[in-house]
Amino acid sequence: MRKQIAAANWKMNCTFQQGEKLLDDILGAEIGLSAHRFAVFAVPYPYLLMTRSELEEEQNYYAAAQNCHHKKAGAFTGEVSAEMLHSMNINYCVVGHSERREFNAETNAMLADKVNLCLENHITPIFCCGEPLAIREAGTQNDYVATQLKESLFHLPGVTIKNIVIAYEPIWAIGTGKTASTEQAQEIHHYLRSVIAAQYGEAIANEIPILYGGSVKANNAKELFSCPDVDGGLVGGASLVAADFIEIIKALK
Ligand code: 13P
Repeated sequence: MRKQIAAANWKMNCTFQQGEKLLDDILGAEIGLSAHRFAVFAVPYPYLLMTRSELEEEQNYYAAAQNCHHKKAGAFTGEVSAEMLHSMNINYCVVGHSERREFNAETNAMLADKVNLCLENHITPIFCCGEPLAIREAGTQNDYVATQLKESLFHLPGVTIKNIVIAYEPIWAIGTGKTASTEQAQEIHHYLRSVIAAQYGEAIANEIPILYGGSVKANNAKELFSCPDVDGGLVGGASLVAADFIEIIKALK
């Protein structure tokens, strides 16, 4: 079975103490995760060590960064490199979230560099793609997301792209309470997998987890995750409420 992942994206929320309590409350539910099921917590940089140590004893629970810089090292005040994350034993990093593409002008080419640096540092990139509302309304979402994959990932050899996690997050569904229907999610996830298969073959395409993000909630996670090509979720708002994220972890296939 492909990896199934419930990934929390806290974004710029929670004080340190609130974050600690949130993790304690979630771990208090004692959801044992078997071989293919994972819970990942993308927290603000200053909380990474706390999160890693909270999760240390737990099987298949991991801390993630929400971003890393696209250059290896140097005079980039305020930035954090993939190598720094690796030196702190951080195993996952969100790359190319639509908020960073929008507010930090991250381009597909820059994201290719981030993906490379993550992989060189043994960090699994959770690579985000997804279309804005105007593209969905024009019906050209497939081409739009395929271009995002091609320009940021398809320079990788097959043996390497297998180590990526993709998160499809339609921008019109993020923080809006408007979720893609299960049909819409399955359709585009299946399409993304077919684009990967055309480039790398079915076997590799079938190994790559594709998460859905955009208003995943406790009451819709099970239905979304039941789609054959939806391998879990990248969750914003609902990951900040322990009881909700517990249900979302439990909803994994
Ligand atoms: P919401 O779950 O709040 O819609 O956010 C989704 C998201 O952006 C996760 O990265």
